[in-house]
Amino acid sequence: MSKIHLAIVVGSNNRESINRQYAQALAKLLPAHFSVSYPQIDDLPMYSLDLEGERAASVNRFTSEIGAADAVLIVTPEHNRSLPAVLKNAIDWGSKPMEKNVWFNKPVAITGTSPGAMGAALAQQHLRQIMGILGSVVLGGEAYIQFKPDLITSEGQIGPNSRDFLQAYMDRFVSLAETLKG
Ligand code: FNR
Repeated sequence: MSKIHLAIVVGSNNRESINRQYAQALAKLLPAHFSVSYPQIDDLPMYSLDLEGERAASVNRFTSEIGAADAVLIVTPEHNRSLPAVLKNAIDWGSKPMEKNVWFNKPVAITGTSPGAMGAALAQQHLRQIMGILGSVVLGGEAYIQFKPDLITSEGQIGPNSRDFLQAYMDRFVSLAETLKG
């Protein structure tokens, strides 16, 4: 089975991010032929056309990492019923210039967690719309996860109450990434 590289973009710049913990637990559900990286997004300058002449090294690093990845998993919190600005900024950098849009044709899965009852659902819906516009192949279905202490075990695994659901979600994403890799 050919190796597949998955970039996991965490849409939070909080040091103790629950979404980062959740992302790391999700990575443990992947098969052995998947490798994983976590592209940094909190050091990207705020997007401006004025910065396009000579892009910052952090921007080039980020777009190269996404461009080289076979698939991208976005794990995001919800800010005011949408995605956090730090994540939108990273997506914007990757989308320009249009002919080098790193999101185009990229298999993308979207999930996220929030202590709120809706589990970051609206952020994920909004993100699905954005990634669709950018030409990503977005995994169908939904994974809105309310953050409760039992979501992640003390060993950093997805807890038993959510495990079957999230394993099935990740298995479908693995199939999509394998199919598109060819
Ligand atoms: C939030 N939070 C939040 N939660 C939610 O479920 N829906 C929302 O619309 C918002 N809005 C919101 C706005 C802002 C500015 C902040 C700072 C927070 C709460 C949020 O889900 C909570 O802080 C999570 O812990 C964020 O995830 P990370 O950063 O810990 O991964």
